[in-house]
Amino acid sequence: MPKVKFMPDGIEIEAKPGSTILQAAKAAHAQVGYACGGVCACSTCHVYVKQGFDSLSEQEENEMDILDKAFDVRASSRLGCQSKVGDEDLVVEITRESRQAWFDEHPEEREKHKVAGSSVAR
Ligand code: FES
Repeated sequence: MPKVKFMPDGIEIEAKPGSTILQAAKAAHAQVGYACGGVCACSTCHVYVKQGFDSLSEQEENEMDILDKAFDVRASSRLGCQSKVGDEDLVVEITRESRQAWFDEHPEEREKHKVAGSSVAR
């Protein structure tokens, strides 16, 4: 099974082809936000795919529309909840907005990271 590595933490997990980057992130406890619950309605799962981009499922119009609302969109941008893993390993960088959303969704973790000195945790 392909592996998905989440940066900057370097957390890595195997993912079933056909599952989404967001599902892999949740299973790995990586800090990818998902304010809408993974139904392509918020853009908090915005990530940069640094390796394996072309192996992902095609981007649909709905995803492009939501990505238009995201911050700092790049050529490597995808929504984690809409990007299905193919047969190649992936390296995924979690965007700042996505990490912030994750901390907003997990306030107890924000406290731990504050203590650890993270620049993202408020
Ligand atoms: S979790 Fe909301 S668009 Fe992906």
